[in-house]
Amino acid sequence: MSKYELIPHPTYSRISEQEMINNAKSFYKLMKNRRTVRDFSPDPVPQEIIENAILTAGTAPNGANMQPWYFTVVKSADLKKQIRTEAEKVEKEFYDTKAPDYWLDALAPLGTDENKEYLEIAPYLIVIFTRKHTVLSDDTIKQHYYIHESVGIATGMLITAIHNAGLVSLTHTPKPMLFLRDLLQRPKYETPFLILAVGYPKENVQVPKIDKKSLDEIATFL
Ligand SMILES: Cc1cc2nc3c(=O)[nH]c(=O)nc-3n(C[C@H](O)[C@H](O)[C@H](O)COP(=O)(O)O)c2cc1C
Repeated sequence: MSKYELIPHPTYSRISEQEMINNAKSFYKLMKNRRTVRDFSPDPVPQEIIENAILTAGTAPNGANMQPWYFTVVKSADLKKQIRTEAEKVEKEFYDTKAPDYWLDALAPLGTDENKEYLEIAPYLIVIFTRKHTVLSDDTIKQHYYIHESVGIATGMLITAIHNAGLVSLTHTPKPMLFLRDLLQRPKYETPFLILAVGYPKENVQVPKIDKKSLDEIATFL
């Protein structure tokens, strides 16, 4: 029996071209002010903001609507400390021995190193996991599709929601990061995707002076 069912689109209605152009421009203006911040304030942030940002991420388009993501939100000082310790171990190895010179050259303008103090200072670390499949209540397994594409899009929406709310974030990818699965007691069918540190920036925070590519460099209209 088919489970296919259609409902009227919940909200869509056309708006004028001018209104759409204005919306597109003002959203670009909002988003071009997003920057990755590496110095956080320890000031507390209402959990409701994080909950709604994750709900936003959960609306992302994804392969066959399997929603192959899981978000573990770390608030505990003790867990944050453990994550920092493990992340700094792998980061030290990366910077000292593993990273090829061309990678270190690419990172140089960002001023990053193995010190990850922000992992303890930011009020929230959202650890995002990809899920290979879902285990249903009767123990059958539901396969997931386009996992990385889907979780990448959801993460982009999470970062956008956090910026829109008035907070800052830092995408952190310690390499390798499997330690997060054990530390946060996630099942084997989940793999850590990245850590998103979230909070207010430190007062008078500074960010690297970098440029974004122009429209001509990133798009062609055929
Ligand atoms: C997948 C991914 C991994 C990243 N990993 C790190 C990281 O481990 N450490 C870090 O300091 N920044 C990391 N970043 C942040 C980038 O360096 C940053 O987004 C880039 O320099 C552009 O700067 P902006 O976000 O301020 O525009 C990462 C970003 C992405 C999307």
